[in-house]
Amino acid sequence: MSDTIGILGGGQLGKMLYLAGANLALDMHLMDSMSDGPAAKICKQYHIGDFMDYDQVMKFGRDMNVVTIEIEKINVDALKDLESEGVKIYPQPHLIAMIQDKGLQKKFYEHNKLASSRFKNYKTIEDFKIDLSKGEWTLPVVQKIRKGGYDGRGVNILKTDSDFNTAFQADFLIEEKVAIDKEIAVITCSDPSGNIIAYDPVEMVFDPVNNILKYQIEPADINAEQVTAAKDLAVSLSKKLGIVGLLAIEMFLDQDGEILINEVAPRPHNSGHHTIEASQCSQYENHLRAISGLALGDPATMTPSILINLLGEEGHVGPVVYEGLNEILSISGVHVHIYGKAETKPNRKMGHITITDSNIDRLKEKYETVVKTIKAVTKS
Ligand SMILES: Nc1ncnc2c1ncn2[C@@H]1O[C@H](COP(=O)(O)OP(=O)(O)OP(=O)(O)O)[C@@H](O)[C@H]1O
Ligand SMILES: [Mg+2]
Repeated sequence: MSDTIGILGGGQLGKMLYLAGANLALDMHLMDSMSDGPAAKICKQYHIGDFMDYDQVMKFGRDMNVVTIEIEKINVDALKDLESEGVKIYPQPHLIAMIQDKGLQKKFYEHNKLASSRFKNYKTIEDFKIDLSKGEWTLPVVQKIRKGGYDGRGVNILKTDSDFNTAFQADFLIEEKVAIDKEIAVITCSDPSGNIIAYDPVEMVFDPVNNILKYQIEPADINAEQVTAAKDLAVSLSKKLGIVGLLAIEMFLDQDGEILINEVAPRPHNSGHHTIEASQCSQYENHLRAISGLALGDPATMTPSILINLLGEEGHVGPVVYEGLNEILSISGVHVHIYGKAETKPNRKMGHITITDSNIDRLKEKYETVVKTIKAVTKS
């Protein structure tokens, strides 16, 4: 009999996991407190429950053979206890706990001699100021809260003394500011026997004005040695962690051509959405295969792709409509994913679009058309 798989989280990543698992008729249950989130609309075995709550995670997990996550902000104590009761938990709870804390993540890279920017953990800004005055740091530096940051919300650049007034007060780390040439990401997937696959690197291209992700492209505009180095670094990190399932590794290529690990996520990741259409086997399907002991799928790229997040337009809050949807649906190689969130608000992730074409110039032309045509807005 096949495993009963429990997935904590019913957002868009939960929805896409569920869709991938449905192809293999896997027995999947999801839990999320949202009763109308992206996965709730399609998943039959949907449990309303809070994945931050110890008792609710225990109750949900006890009926499963294997439990996984689509978000790392979950109750790890419950996952540790479920693991000791014999439920398989992938990724393993001690790894989720470590990854939840950017200070511990950085210590792991340092301890294992994996390339990453210099850092130090601090409790107060006063402590940092002492080190600064001793010459241990020179401004600008990057301040990050250790826990709970996402979408850049826990990241601050400290350029001058006046920035200390607005610095984060929670436990934080300071990192050397990397002279970034490109931001890239590699996703790996490991099974319990130690087999591992790695997808080709994607490149994140940011808007120089507002620093929001413009698009992601695969292949990344890096040379063959850099592709190999990025994948080798990702595989080496995944092996050292001993993680089962997906690991998304965000990296910087610095202006000296060196590749540094920025941070990781132990789950399906935005930087792997394109694998649904552009790879032989998607990140979602590979994760489910890995955690349920099925053979891993081929990560090979089938076509170049560009991915954009479909974000809620500025100035629009309320029930969503998608302007320009029909126009882009008629373009060959435009793959639209609407997450099914009822309400839009500025910059909310409402969906994503993967654009494919064997020719990079045509791919970029299609991207230009798509980006100026589709809008997530409220009815006027
Ligand atoms: N040490 C650094 N040097 C230079 N820039 C950095 C550094 N660390 C982070 N950044 C910039 O800040 C961005 C966000 O940082 P990070 O990925 O650590 O935060 P996050 O909140 O987890 O973001 P997200 O959820 O978008 O991945 C990076 O993509 C990069 O552009
Ligand atoms: Mg990041």
